[in-house]
Amino acid sequence: MSTILDGKATSNQIKEELSQEVTALKASGKRPPHLAAVLVGNDGASLTYVGSKVRSCEKIGYDSTLIRLEDTVTQDELLETIHTLNNDDTLDGFIVQLPLPKHIDEEVVLHAINPDKDVDGFHPTNFGKMALGMETFIPATPFGIMELLHRYKLDISGKHAVVIGRSHIVGRPMSILLSDKGNPGNATVTLTHSRTQNLAEITKTADIVVSALGVPNFVTADMIKQDAIIIDVGITRVPDENHPKGYVITGDVAYDEVKEKASFITPVPGGVGPMTIAMLLQNTMLAYKRNS
Ligand code: GUN
Repeated sequence: MSTILDGKATSNQIKEELSQEVTALKASGKRPPHLAAVLVGNDGASLTYVGSKVRSCEKIGYDSTLIRLEDTVTQDELLETIHTLNNDDTLDGFIVQLPLPKHIDEEVVLHAINPDKDVDGFHPTNFGKMALGMETFIPATPFGIMELLHRYKLDISGKHAVVIGRSHIVGRPMSILLSDKGNPGNATVTLTHSRTQNLAEITKTADIVVSALGVPNFVTADMIKQDAIIIDVGITRVPDENHPKGYVITGDVAYDEVKEKASFITPVPGGVGPMTIAMLLQNTMLAYKRNS
C-alpha cells in the first residue's frame, strides 16, 4: 500500500505561499504579477486547463488576461498577437496553450515568444538554460514533479529513474531535471519512448517511473518494482456514459493495482495536474521579480 503524493494539497500550499507574497507586494504599493494566456479554438481540454490557470491567478491575487482566438486564425495573426504581448510592459509573462490547430506551426509560434516572458519555458533559449542548469523558467509539468518530490523529501540521488515519453514539454525536460545535480536530482535516468524495446524489462528496474505517454492504464503492476515511486502525467479523457460529463480523466497508470505495489504514487486527477498550474504561477512570480 502506497502513500499518495497529494498534488492538490501541495499546489494549494504553493498557491497560499504565492498569495502571501502578493498581499505583501500590494501592501507596499506595488502592482501584482500579471499572466496572460492565449487560447486558440474551442478544444474542451484546453478550455478546462486555461480556465483553471486564469481562476488560479484570480485566487492568489495576480492579474490575468485571457486572449481567445478563433481556430481559423492565421499563423500571422497569432504571431501579431504574440508580438503585442511581447511588447506589453504591464505583462510579466504569457503562455500559448497547446495544441494549436494543424495549420499553425507550433515551433514558429513558440520561438516568437520573448524568452523573458516565456513562463512555460518552451523557448529554445530557456530550454537550453534549463539543460545547462542555469536559472530560467522550467516547464511547469516537470517542474511540478520535481517540487512534489522535494516537498515529500523523496531522495532519488543515485536511483534509477525511468521516464516514459520524450515530448518536449514533459518527458525530455523531465529526463534532464532528474539527472541534474541538485536535490531532488542526481538520478540515473533512462528515457524511453515508442521505439523502446522491452520496456517492461526496463521499468521493472526503476526506483522511480514517470509516465508521460497519454495511454490510459498503460503502466501495470507487473511492470514495476516493489516500492517504486510512481508519477503519472497522463490525463486522457475516456468516454464514460455513467459520468455526468460523459468522460473520466484517466492516467497512464493502472492506479488500483499499482498503488498496492508502489511506495509513493500520484493520483489522477489530483496529482501532477494541479502542480503544473502552481509552477506556472511560480514562474510568473519569477518573471515579475526580474521585471521589477
Ligand atoms: N498543453 C499541455 N500542457 C501544456 C503546458 O504546460 N503549457 C501549454 N502552453 N500548453 C500545454
